[in-house]
Amino acid sequence: ARIKFDYSNVKNFVNDHELAQMQTMVSAVDRDLREGTGVGSDFTGWITLPTDYDKAEFARIQAAAKKIQSDSKVLVVIGIGGSYLGSRAAIDFLHEFFNNHLPDDQREFPQVLFAGNSISPAYINDLIKVIGDRDFSVNVISKSGTTTEPAIAFRIFKNLLEKKYGQEGAKSRIYATTDAKRGALKSEADAEGYETFVVPDAVGGRFTVLTACGLLPIAASGADIEQLMAGARQAQVDYADPDLATNGAYQYAAMRNILYRKGYTTEILANWEPTLQYLAEWWKQLQGESEGKDHKGIYPSSANYSTDLHSLGQYIQDGRRDLMETVIKVANPVSDYVVPLADEDLDGLGYLQGKNMSYVNDTAMQGVVLAHVDGGVPNMIVEIENQDEFSLGYLFYFFEIAVGISGYLNGINPFDQPGVEAYKTNMFALLGKPGYEEKTKELRARL
Ligand code: PA5
Repeated sequence: ARIKFDYSNVKNFVNDHELAQMQTMVSAVDRDLREGTGVGSDFTGWITLPTDYDKAEFARIQAAAKKIQSDSKVLVVIGIGGSYLGSRAAIDFLHEFFNNHLPDDQREFPQVLFAGNSISPAYINDLIKVIGDRDFSVNVISKSGTTTEPAIAFRIFKNLLEKKYGQEGAKSRIYATTDAKRGALKSEADAEGYETFVVPDAVGGRFTVLTACGLLPIAASGADIEQLMAGARQAQVDYADPDLATNGAYQYAAMRNILYRKGYTTEILANWEPTLQYLAEWWKQLQGESEGKDHKGIYPSSANYSTDLHSLGQYIQDGRRDLMETVIKVANPVSDYVVPLADEDLDGLGYLQGKNMSYVNDTAMQGVVLAHVDGGVPNMIVEIENQDEFSLGYLFYFFEIAVGISGYLNGINPFDQPGVEAYKTNMFALLGKPGYEEKTKELRARL
């Protein structure tokens, strides 16, 4: 396997035999997952997606990305939840941290900026300002095609495109990623003649990073989506055997369930690279929306180190003992820097001078793992080789297959999200959307 899953730091919390004793359950839920006999099996298309995807559409995605790169300085990606977090995570992971701050003359590829994941008017105004008079295109992404936040943002940017380029010109700059047949976005795209890409029925929002949802923005950002798929494909092969002695993704799924049942009900995904922050946001959606139901499930949270060692660090070390921690470690850093030599050791850093910062970062990580374990926080390490497309595709698949197994082990349907509807109903009712009249009365009376 191309990921090293290291659970040696749970040994103070879990006996050796406990993992092996999960094998019967893991094998049963693996069969359910792969044979489609488990709950939510209509939404397991992501399992074979890395091999079984629409190759003709993939080529269209590559071509659209090239066109965007040639005619736009900015790509505005409009989407929320599963239609947003995967591409955001991938683009941050695969580019330098200050990528979006580089001036146009130093950029080979367009800036990718996101909209439709909040209803903040200030954010929209700021985004319009930063685009300025530069050429831009829009990729609007909504599986259902009816989500309010992206729909508002799309109306705004469609208007701006039409003002800038005329109706015809705007059409050639709008790419719609949505359901093959249903939804307001699909109808609008057909009526207007936009190029469309499909979110497959059998792939739920949070599993769509390797569909057009993720692939078009990622490709437009200049990243290699062939390699991303190749990494996921390799993981599909490597994690096909449910044997807990060898399958790292299944070990992770089983181990977090063992810990959960002992009272470790919150999992922190920690990273040591600022470019991994959004990977954690993607992971939080994947875990939280898959597992948090029927009043149970591990609460997914994240920490960015060293930053959060100086804030959450106190709690993690010493607060309520219901935390487990999973660290993402990148074996080979993207680049390195040597701690400079100084004539005088005024800052007391003489013992570090001449050392690579990657060495310092790595050593800090080891020290923190030991401290947290000593403080009562079981620790797991997910080590990837490189911060590149192949490793990322592999990692996406690792977490996806793990959450499928993990959710089934906890007896829930990992593939639905009924809880996401409650806020929408209230929002629609209070905003006066037609069809919600009764609810409007009921809620207004409570305000
Ligand atoms: O996972 C999910 O289903 C949600 O997070 C959706 O991705 C999110 O609500 C966006 O939905 P849509 O793509 O239909 O606009």
